[in-house]
Amino acid sequence: MKLLRLSDVDVRGKRVFIRADLNVPQDDAGNIADDTRIRASVPAIHDAWARGAAVMVTSHLGRPTEGQWKADDSLAPIARRLGELLDHDVPLIRDWVDGGAWHDTLQPGDIVLLENCRINKGEKKDDPTLAQKMAKLCDVYANDAFGTAHRAEATTHGIARYAPIACAGPLMAAELDALSKALSDPKRPLVAIVGGAKVSTKLTVLRALLAKVDTLIVGGGIANTFILAAGGKIGKSLAEPDLVAEAKSILAEFPGKVPIPIDAVCAKEFAAGAKSELKAIENIATDDLILDLGPQSIAALQHIVARAGTIVWNGPIGVFEFDAFANGTRELGQAIAASHAFSIAGGGDTVSAINKFGIADRIGYISTAGGAFLEFLEGKTLPAVAVLEERAAR
Ligand code: 3PG
Repeated sequence: MKLLRLSDVDVRGKRVFIRADLNVPQDDAGNIADDTRIRASVPAIHDAWARGAAVMVTSHLGRPTEGQWKADDSLAPIARRLGELLDHDVPLIRDWVDGGAWHDTLQPGDIVLLENCRINKGEKKDDPTLAQKMAKLCDVYANDAFGTAHRAEATTHGIARYAPIACAGPLMAAELDALSKALSDPKRPLVAIVGGAKVSTKLTVLRALLAKVDTLIVGGGIANTFILAAGGKIGKSLAEPDLVAEAKSILAEFPGKVPIPIDAVCAKEFAAGAKSELKAIENIATDDLILDLGPQSIAALQHIVARAGTIVWNGPIGVFEFDAFANGTRELGQAIAASHAFSIAGGGDTVSAINKFGIADRIGYISTAGGAFLEFLEGKTLPAVAVLEERAAR
């Protein structure tokens, strides 16, 4: 993948426009619940600032209605947190698209945050007129928002076509390097772990990964559908009966690649305090709910993970939020952490599990992305990356 990188651009005295992904979770009072994405965006901003640029940063936050500013959609809390992390003033600029006094007075050494870009009319439709206006604000456009790279919007795509220079920020570059390392020329065996509720939402990911991996470990509701496809019992567990035929055809097409659980931790209700019971799959009753894998299934997966050369992880194995059903995800996470494989993990639930079990420092790379991570795994072209590649080839 050939991209111009921000580190290769001389930014001294230049106006640098950085598209970051500062779309962080907030509580009901608007407080930032997890600032990982803000911290991950600091190196690009700091680098451009330290090399003498005038720095403008923008991001989306949530999915606001275009053309309507609302306090709930404002990047104000993010500007404060960014200021703390950079130890620098970060004023927030409203109505910034047409430039004006704030832009005329912007100096090298300044860092400003431009209000939620999805409030601007035309952002989501990648409107060329909006993109051209934004491109006029800068000498250099750097996209550091890998988490939004699957969206073709005016700040992630259109602006890159018109800015005098368009490049990838260090976070964008690191994410692409790590994913390419895992999937383009992986050290084998390549093992993917895909958990989550529904086969339907991850069918294309499962198929794309199966063509590449040596083993595909399935977890959560996805595993339940595969248990059904393999002729096992799941009681009243979450599954998609409509997709059993599809799962059967996957198992036939890729024999031996998808290990099927042989035991599970069950309960009669979905609750943190529910009484748990370990059962072999053939003994699961019609009123049982599978909430985690059992020890024999976990041991088989630990063995696979221990021998892996590369591991790609998206989605928990069981209901790890409930302590009684966290064992499968914890044990598998610890096996990944202990393995010598290059490991990469992505997706909100996966990252929460990694943090809960304190293994973050032993995972090779933790992506800041959710949807974009999955689309990369599916082998889809990410529009924000494609446009940077086009610019690099010009
Ligand atoms: C994310 O949280 O996955 C990214 O910030 C993209 O957000 P979006 O799904 O609203 O485009």
